[in-house]
Amino acid sequence: MTPTGRAAWEQAYARAEAAITDAGVPKTADLVKLDEVRVRLSGRNGELTALLKALKDLSIEDKRELGPKGQALKESFEAAIAARKAELEDAGDAAALEKDAIDLTLPGLRAPRGRLHPLTTTLHEIARIFQLMGYSWAEGPFVEDERHNFSALNIPADHPARDSQDTFYLKDLPLLLRTHTSTVQIRAMESQRPPLRVACPGRVFRHEQIDATHSAVFHQVEGLVIDENIGLADLKGHLQTFLQKLLGASTKTRFRPSYFPFTEPSTEVDVKCFFCPGSGCPACKHTGWIEILGAGVVNPAVLTGVGYDAGKWSGFAFGIGVERVAMLLHGVRDLRDFYTNDLRFLNQFDEDLV
Ligand code: DAH
Repeated sequence: MTPTGRAAWEQAYARAEAAITDAGVPKTADLVKLDEVRVRLSGRNGELTALLKALKDLSIEDKRELGPKGQALKESFEAAIAARKAELEDAGDAAALEKDAIDLTLPGLRAPRGRLHPLTTTLHEIARIFQLMGYSWAEGPFVEDERHNFSALNIPADHPARDSQDTFYLKDLPLLLRTHTSTVQIRAMESQRPPLRVACPGRVFRHEQIDATHSAVFHQVEGLVIDENIGLADLKGHLQTFLQKLLGASTKTRFRPSYFPFTEPSTEVDVKCFFCPGSGCPACKHTGWIEILGAGVVNPAVLTGVGYDAGKWSGFAFGIGVERVAMLLHGVRDLRDFYTNDLRFLNQFDEDLV
């Protein structure tokens, strides 16, 4: 044993102890400073580390006696560091929680909710009623050929009816944008054998001057029923039932003679004005009646054209304008309101027709 060695070690121990006291671990204010203190004293070049390293120059007996003392000093220092670290971290968490505190009693923010467009809800309602009446649902393409839009519907090339439906033709192609959903009755008959009972919704296109009651793009639902012994009485029954379900049980209907090349006889159907008691108002153009759809008994020429035996099968067809129905149901006076996406208009419709 070298007394100098032991004495020097004990002095170093006393300095390290004093350094620990000086460092003031329990009062160190933040985690960064605390770590600096830790590195300074027990890091690779720290005083406590040097103290333990210096044990190797001592005698075995001194090592036995002083080794645990040095170790205990280092451990108590590190324990003090760990304790302070935990304290500072807890305080930090508490501060962060305080800062980010959420008041659970505050009312939540209401997320803006979309709603179905009134034309969609009207179409859903029309579909629901036809479904109840046993109709299936079929759709066809917007771009059509002249056959499906005109000739198969008994509208020949030189027929004035073609003028009445100002048509958008595709450039350099023998195709057009369908002017009515009657195209889909032809497609339904071409793809199915009779009997059939089908409703065909969709968008149609006409080269129209746009105003409060005309649009170049609008929607129709076409109906077609083909069976044995179907006639005008069936047509009346179906349409009356449909209109009463759509507009109310007390809806009065009127069937006026009309003309469509694809039906014979043809009729236009009016409903008693429900804006005035039949006495006349702007909505019914002072007639007491509002025209709502076109219909008729399918012309045998149309049946023959799709390969149906016109001696065996007969039927009726009708076409109804979706915008027209939505305007009547909701008292909308300008058709253009449906297409301008003005939320002040759209927000007025609730969803009870969905
Ligand atoms: N296609 C006609 C139109 O666009 C509506 C129509 C009338 C459809 C009579 C029919 C019908 O099926 O029988 O105005």
